[in-house]
Amino acid sequence: MKYQYKNEFRHNLVEWFNNEKRDLPWRHTSDPYKIWVSEVMLQQTRVDTVIPYYNRFLDKYPTIQDLAYAPEEELLKMWEGLGYYSRARNLQAGVKEVVEKYNSVVPDNRHDISSLKGVGPYTAGAILSIAYQKAEHAVDGNVMRVLSRVLLIEEDIALPKTRKVFEEAVEMLIDEKHPGDFNQALMDLGAMICTPTSPKCLLCPVRDYCIAFNEGIADQLPIKSKKTKTKKVQFKVYLAADQKGRYLLEKRPSEGLLANMWQFPMIEINENSMSDETFKHNYNVEIKEYIEEQLLKFKHVFSHLTWEMDCVYVLVEPKNDLPGDALFLTIEEIKTLPMPVSMLKILNVLN
Ligand code: ADE
Repeated sequence: MKYQYKNEFRHNLVEWFNNEKRDLPWRHTSDPYKIWVSEVMLQQTRVDTVIPYYNRFLDKYPTIQDLAYAPEEELLKMWEGLGYYSRARNLQAGVKEVVEKYNSVVPDNRHDISSLKGVGPYTAGAILSIAYQKAEHAVDGNVMRVLSRVLLIEEDIALPKTRKVFEEAVEMLIDEKHPGDFNQALMDLGAMICTPTSPKCLLCPVRDYCIAFNEGIADQLPIKSKKTKTKKVQFKVYLAADQKGRYLLEKRPSEGLLANMWQFPMIEINENSMSDETFKHNYNVEIKEYIEEQLLKFKHVFSHLTWEMDCVYVLVEPKNDLPGDALFLTIEEIKTLPMPVSMLKILNVLN
């Protein structure tokens, strides 16, 4: 882009942002810790969903030290429903490093901030530009979509190596005086005007500089190859009550998907599985009665995986000790534990 056009592009974009920006809670602070929290929550989660979580989270952990030393189970409870729980764990690990290694001051340069747990190129750039006014790129999906259209970039955005092309584009275009506004303007433009389908080009403050608009092909960009199909796994979920009306719960392993969160026992179903036998064997219980053979059936979709859940309600009697991470708990006790959304759906039915 020509020098003069670059200046006009920046100016129009940032001015549009100043007039039209969404009023979001993290836009009322320049505290890098708070901006960090917001950016981690906003990865993979919609703005509307994040707002109440962000407010509650910062009420609970107003300073970086508060979060650094919060108990994990409490932290997971605060994150419950947001999904991608490793984000919460990584955020806490990163925050703790800042407290212990950087005297509680979030680093203000890309090298040091990128060394923190959970801080990738996007999060680093977002914190540096928004909190510290550094002219750093922060390229997310919205930014790639906007710039693929403005600059007619036809590289496949599903490929990790393509990000670099967009980072260089931002470096070329960024408003050095207002880098935080510039980056957030691209994000808001992507969310409000330059949408994936039916972009509202007639309302766009930078359409004069947009090659795709001028060629009439804005809706054909970005180029994104299809992901391979997500895997499906079927589970039978046991709402297993004892004589006292307490339910059997277990804690998931400390590694992997939904690590350390609590769930009703679930047994994978495949062609030759006898799920009841496996259930009784794994938890040392006897099934006294099926109270509801099909209490609830639903799908839960993760980014890479779908769980097909078939829930049954059974009365059980312990025959022996429960395995290490399993307990019978009252509904009130269950409600205090961090649980994945799929399990909250089930818990809802019990209430
Ligand atoms: N998405 C991710 N970060 C954002 C921000 N700071 N503003 C708006 N949308 C965002």
